[in-house]
Amino acid sequence: MKVTVDREKCHGHARCHDLCPELFEIGDVDGKSRVKLDRVPPELRDLARRAADRCPEDAIAWEE
Ligand code: F3S
Repeated sequence: MKVTVDREKCHGHARCHDLCPELFEIGDVDGKSRVKLDRVPPELRDLARRAADRCPEDAIAWEE
């Protein structure tokens, strides 16, 4: 599984980071989310999907 954040859409709500800090980090300078891992390990996949569902800007996409 791969997850991406559209940085144009991201407005720094940080729900993704709150839900799964192992996968998302918020930039100190721009306050936007960045994906930390190239591939999402199996134990984080449900959290990654939930983060995508909960982003109010619909900025997170994932693919298997
Ligand atoms: Fe950005 Fe959405 Fe996370 S706006 S900080 S990707 S919850």
